[in-house]
Amino acid sequence: MTPLTGVDGLVDDAAERVAACMSDEALRSAAAELLGKRSLLAGAHRSLGTLEPDDRRAAGRQLHEARSRIEHLVADRHQELARRARQRMLHDDRLDLTEVRPGPSRGRLHVVQRTRDELEDVFVGMGFVVEEGPEVETDWYNFEALNIPPAHPARGMWDTFYLDLGDPETILLRTHTSPVQIRVMEAQPPPIYAVMPGRCYRRDTPDARHIPIFHQIEGLVVDRHVTFAHLAGTIETFTTAYFGPNIHSRLRPAYFPFTEPSAEFEVTCTICQGSGCRTCSQTGWIELGGCGMVDPAVLRAVGLDADTWSGFAFGFGIDRCAQMRHQIPDMRILLENDLRYLRQI
Ligand code: PHE
Repeated sequence: MTPLTGVDGLVDDAAERVAACMSDEALRSAAAELLGKRSLLAGAHRSLGTLEPDDRRAAGRQLHEARSRIEHLVADRHQELARRARQRMLHDDRLDLTEVRPGPSRGRLHVVQRTRDELEDVFVGMGFVVEEGPEVETDWYNFEALNIPPAHPARGMWDTFYLDLGDPETILLRTHTSPVQIRVMEAQPPPIYAVMPGRCYRRDTPDARHIPIFHQIEGLVVDRHVTFAHLAGTIETFTTAYFGPNIHSRLRPAYFPFTEPSAEFEVTCTICQGSGCRTCSQTGWIELGGCGMVDPAVLRAVGLDADTWSGFAFGFGIDRCAQMRHQIPDMRILLENDLRYLRQI
């Protein structure tokens, strides 16, 4: 006695329909079609009224059962879709920490940065502090305060990059680290024992021993009764500490507007250990930088009493040190960032 035919088929159709749903959204609209007001199920329910009371009860139970089976199908499908979504997410987010991939090896600091760190260490070990200044400077710090007035012929010693800022030729890329001397003396009273490393710029044509962006480390001592002997001793101590006991320094007369007397300092050529080679033009010596006793005009420019205070300063190329220490034949390589080369030094 089956008062309603086709109810089982209804459930079977619904099962197929639900199983084909691949998203929550599809499942929602399928559920509305199968169970909503316009569904076959709802229509069958409405037609119950036309049946005899006994049949109606049996058919009603049948429809109720069919509805709850379809509701279960929908709920199960909903859970299944959620499970699949979670699995997909876990799979996509998976991190296999045991996976070994051939990839870039661990990085290292550029040889110029390492050289700078080592030079700082040597000077800190001698009692100096490390200071820094800006790479964009005013004419005052880079030249005037260093006893180089406008139009002074000594300006030709530094081919300068000027910036298109303010009045013409007033703002520039510093050509040396010497302006930091001025900033340090302005910021603190003597005694001063400081080194000032940093990047500098000059309009030089690049060649084996010159690059337009390079690095210097400046040294400044201001105290009472500082002599040229202190300067020479400091340079020699630094040279053997950094390059080793077989490398020595020597000073040769030179001219800088901000030191008097001034000297160039040279170190034993590390390539030939002083016996003479092509790199040092057979002299056995390589020029590293300049130095001298701080000119009284510079002390006066920052308001120090030149009768009470005296000092010495030096400045030399960090890149040149790296070149000497690692026997780098061409300095341009330091700017090229060719990893095949940088990995070897
Ligand atoms: N600033 C000078 C240069 O770059 C070097 C120097 C520094 C000379 C300090 C004397 C004293 O050429």
